Amino acid sequence: MRWIHAAGRGLLVAVVVLTGYVASGVQGDGARGGGRGPLTLATAGDLTGYLGPLLDGWNRAHPSERVTLVELPDSADETHAQMATDLRGDGRSRFDVLNIDVAWTSEFAAAGWISPLPAGRFPLDGFLPPVVDTATYDGRLYAVPYVTNAGLLLYRKDLLDKEGVAPPRTWAELEKQARSIAPKYGLDGYAGQFLPYEGLTVNAAEAVYSAGGSILGDEGERVTVNSAAAREGIGFLARGVRDGWIPEKALTYKEEESKKAFQDGRLLFLRNWPYAYVGASAKGSPVAGKIGAVPLPGPDGPGASVLGGSNLAVSSHARHPDSAARLIAYLTSEATQRQVLTKGALPPVRAALYEDPVLIRRFPYLPTLRASVLAAAPRPKSPRYDQVSLAVQAVVHDAMTGHQTPEAAVRRLARELADISRRG
Ligand code: GLC
Repeated sequence: MRWIHAAGRGLLVAVVVLTGYVASGVQGDGARGGGRGPLTLATAGDLTGYLGPLLDGWNRAHPSERVTLVELPDSADETHAQMATDLRGDGRSRFDVLNIDVAWTSEFAAAGWISPLPAGRFPLDGFLPPVVDTATYDGRLYAVPYVTNAGLLLYRKDLLDKEGVAPPRTWAELEKQARSIAPKYGLDGYAGQFLPYEGLTVNAAEAVYSAGGSILGDEGERVTVNSAAAREGIGFLARGVRDGWIPEKALTYKEEESKKAFQDGRLLFLRNWPYAYVGASAKGSPVAGKIGAVPLPGPDGPGASVLGGSNLAVSSHARHPDSAARLIAYLTSEATQRQVLTKGALPPVRAALYEDPVLIRRFPYLPTLRASVLAAAPRPKSPRYDQVSLAVQAVVHDAMTGHQTPEAAVRRLARELADISRRG
């Protein structure tokens, strides 16, 4: 069920940390002339607007190594497309440091777009173990974990309390409450991120994993999706739209649109990342004080979340690799990671912060989040992950819009994934 079993993952982390090899690329004063100097940092849309001010701190202290932030679109896929176009461009890349989705490390590394990092320069023993695994490819460290993420179910606590029911632990309870309680209050039932893009891949994978299925084998090649569990997972999402407890407009939602629907008081249940819980609980939000967050439900009890987040990597075209490595060390230091949480509302990668009593008082969901991150299932480590994800999105969208039954959709997905594996 997990792409990489927990024990294997621990071993991989240990190997990477202990070898501490010095690879070509980012080391000492940098391979490509002038190790230190100004940089650009490319990132997907900064939804909480914290990164500019955080980099101002670095820029004030390092005037000769100033960082210019290049903010790409909110959607993971559009950011991926822009980064890939830039990195393919024969040494004329605009980007030095890349804040890449955890799902892309293998693809970027296999394509030679990012440089391996000297593990000795980035001790990773204080990081949550699953996040370290997302930064490695082929036994080498290609990035440093920066932000982690796990899906949560947000719910309207005020309304469930009024109805005298506990938040759902199973799909049947979610469906029942979405069908019976939401309409009473003029709300839609349930939404996630269902537009065809990476967010839909995440939501679909969560449904499949929660039912006990998988999409590819642990090695990221063998196609395992043709199963009763996958049909059940996709069937859950398709049924929601067909029966109306997932509103049709949710088929156009990414993270922000779905967060807005919940925050504006139009939804009873929302699957989203923790930043949405922080935003919807903040002063000024119409639902502040009225919401709660629990683990995602599954068929017979709590389900599985996909591991989200991003890693910092150095472009193989970086102009100043030593400064790039220094910036990454700064952004992943414990002090900056604290700000990633307090200013950015994003889950940090350093384990100690989840046990800090001051932070727990301010962000009471931290222990739940830690458990969700530790239990979350990573996406496949495939050098062709972009194609895998596109196939999942297209097929699951067809099932959710009723163009294909879940059974036919799963069979088609299995065929398409097998084609991708064969093409190599
Ligand atoms: C969040 C996650 C990322 C995921 C994306 C999907 O940004 O951190 O890992 O791919 O959402 O939309």
